[in-house]
Amino acid sequence: MQFTIAIDGPAAAGKGTLAAQLAAYFSLPHLDTGLLYRAVGRMVLEGQTPETAAQRLQPNDLNPSGLYTPAVTQQASRVAELAPVRAALVDFQRDFASQTGGAVLDGRDIGTVICPQAAVKLFVTARPEVRAERRHRELISGGTKISYAQVLQDVYERDYRDQNRVEAPLIAAPDATMLDTSDLSIEAVLERAIIAVKQFSSDRL
Ligand code: CDP
Repeated sequence: MQFTIAIDGPAAAGKGTLAAQLAAYFSLPHLDTGLLYRAVGRMVLEGQTPETAAQRLQPNDLNPSGLYTPAVTQQASRVAELAPVRAALVDFQRDFASQTGGAVLDGRDIGTVICPQAAVKLFVTARPEVRAERRHRELISGGTKISYAQVLQDVYERDYRDQNRVEAPLIAAPDATMLDTSDLSIEAVLERAIIAVKQFSSDRL
């Protein structure tokens, strides 16, 4: 079995941070699939149609710089509702996941649609206010001027859209381990995730 670690969860739940740390710990490559939708969102803001943007997406487009502005973030969750956009991005994600040795992918539908056979599935969540607070801090320290209230509203709007869309809605896979990070430090989250991965992999591999 391919050693794929699938990490899903709602907006700003800390999936990216956890996925990067787990990837480093297990020496695996990591793909933050949110970057694909963010890059398509940016290309749409620049004038392309969503489907064409998704079909033309190149690995170079995934540089996170400029992909976390409020406008790109909202546009990402709008293009993510479109079936042709999601379909155009499947192969890239599955190819990444099937690398020899395995991979860590984080997003919304990794454990349910992209890699339903993943060896390990984690569903990372936190209370909306906590997620908004963390994202607000990140944005402010990166130089973006935005209020906490705006970030909280963005979190609510994206959660609603991600959970209620027809295509690949955000939902925990039935066999995912749930990880509520609201009251945990980054170190404590990583520690629990490592335990879950080791447990899962010894059960399944
Ligand atoms: O980092 P954050 O959780 O705020 O968002 P992200 O993971 O970068 O994803 C940005 C947007 O892309 C989300 O709001 C989703 O609408 C969409 N997305 C998706 O639909 N499926 C994925 N596998 C990853 C992201």
